[in-house]
Amino acid sequence: MIEGSSDAKYTGKLRYGMVGGGTGAFIGDVHRKSIALDGFAELAAGCFSRSPENTLTTGKALGLAPERLYSTFEEMAEEESRRPDKIDFVVIVTPNTTHYPAAKAFLSRGIPVVCEKPFTVEATEARELAELAKKNDLLVMVTYVYTGNVTIKQARALVKQGEIGEIKFINAEYPQEWLLAPAEKQGSKQAEWRTDPAMAGKSNSVGDLGSHIENMISYVTGLRIESLLARLDKIGPGRILDDNASILLEYEGGAKGMFWTSQIAAGYDNAFRFRIFGTKGAIQWNEEASNYLEIFRFGQPNAALSRGKDPFYPHAQSFSRIPSGHPEGYFEAMANIYKTYIGALSKKKSGETLNPEDLDFPNAEMGVDGVKFIGKCVESSEKGAVWVTI
Ligand SMILES: NC(=O)c1ccc[n+]([C@@H]2O[C@H](COP(=O)([O-])OP(=O)(O)OC[C@H]3O[C@@H](n4cnc5c(N)ncnc54)[C@H](O)[C@@H]3O)[C@@H](O)[C@H]2O)c1
Repeated sequence: MIEGSSDAKYTGKLRYGMVGGGTGAFIGDVHRKSIALDGFAELAAGCFSRSPENTLTTGKALGLAPERLYSTFEEMAEEESRRPDKIDFVVIVTPNTTHYPAAKAFLSRGIPVVCEKPFTVEATEARELAELAKKNDLLVMVTYVYTGNVTIKQARALVKQGEIGEIKFINAEYPQEWLLAPAEKQGSKQAEWRTDPAMAGKSNSVGDLGSHIENMISYVTGLRIESLLARLDKIGPGRILDDNASILLEYEGGAKGMFWTSQIAAGYDNAFRFRIFGTKGAIQWNEEASNYLEIFRFGQPNAALSRGKDPFYPHAQSFSRIPSGHPEGYFEAMANIYKTYIGALSKKKSGETLNPEDLDFPNAEMGVDGVKFIGKCVESSEKGAVWVTI
C-alpha cells in the first residue's frame, strides 16, 4: 500500500523557541530537523546554551533575529511572553535538572512546553508542572520519541483490539555500549552530565533509557505498574550513578514484567526492544528495525508486519510517510509526535474542539509517571532491591 500522510487539517505556521540545543549538543538538532520535516512551526527564539556566545553563534547559524537570542531561559520566558509575536511553544532540550525550572518559567507565563524526558528529576516537581499546565490550560508534550513510530501506533491499536488476548508477561530491554568506556573522562559532554547527579538527577541508565521503556509499555498496553523491584548497578569504575539495571514489575490486573537497561553492553548501539505476551499471541518490536512489527499468533505461522506495505489500523497508517522499503526512523518518529502536538496547538488556537486522536502525543501525566517510575527504581535499589509499590 502506498499512502502518504494527510496534512490537510494544519493551517498556518506556529513559532517556537528552544532552550538548550546549542552547537555541539545532541537532541536539540534532532528536534529542529524533525519539526522542519513537516514545517508546521518555525524557530523564532532561543537560549541554546549556558554560554551566551554559543547561543549567539547557534542563533546566527539558524538565521534568528539577534533580539530573540537570550542569555538565560528566565529572560527568554519573560521577554517572549510580552511580545505580540511571541512563541507559541518552547522546546526544552537541556540536561535533566534544568527541565523543571525552565518548564516552570514558561508555563507560569502562559507558554506551552515541550520537554525532553525525564520530565523532571523529582516526582513532586513533575506533578507541580502538570498542575500548572492544567491551571493555565496549556498543552505539554514530553518527548518520548519512540511512541511516534508507525509500528508502535499499530502495536497499540492491535493490543487494544484484543489481537494478542489478555497480557500476561512483558519483557523489555534497552542496552547500549557507549559507557563501557569512561566517556565522561574522555571529553564527551553527553556522558559528563549523564553520570553527574547534579545534572542527571538520581539515576543515569534508568532515567535515560528506563523512562523510555516505562512509557513505551504503558502506551502500547495501557497497563499501569503496581509495584516493582529494581537493582541498579554502577559498573564503570568510579561511577556514582547506575549504568546498568534489572527491574521486575507487577502490573495492575496481574501481568508481570522484566526490564533491563544498560550502557555497558558491548556490541549494542541503541537496541531498544520489547516483547509482549498475551493469552492469544505476542508482539515483538525492535527500534533498530522499527519499520517492522512482529506478531506471533499461538499455533499459527509467525508474521512481520511491514510499515508502508501491510494493512495497518487507519490511525497508525495516517503517520506513514513513504512506501515500504524506504526506512522511516528516529526523525520521522519525532516528527510524528510533533505533528500531533502542533496540530493540537493549532486547533486550540483557532478555538476548535480537540478529539482523542488530536491528543495522541506523550503528555504531562506520562511525564509524571516516568519520573515516579525512576524514583521508585532508585528507592527499591537503595533499600536492597525490595518490592516497592508505585
Ligand atoms: N528522547 C530521546 O530519545 C532523547 C535522546 C537524547 C537525549 N534526550 C534528553 O534530552 C536532554 C538533552 O540531552 P542531550 O544529549 O541533547 O544533551 P547535550 O549535552 O548534548 O545538550 C544539552 C544542551 O543544553 C544546554 N544547556 C544546559 N544548561 C542550559 C541552560 N541553563 N540554558 C540553556 N541551555 C542549556 C547545553 O549547553 C547543551 O547545548 C536530556 O534531558 C536527555 O535525557 C532525549
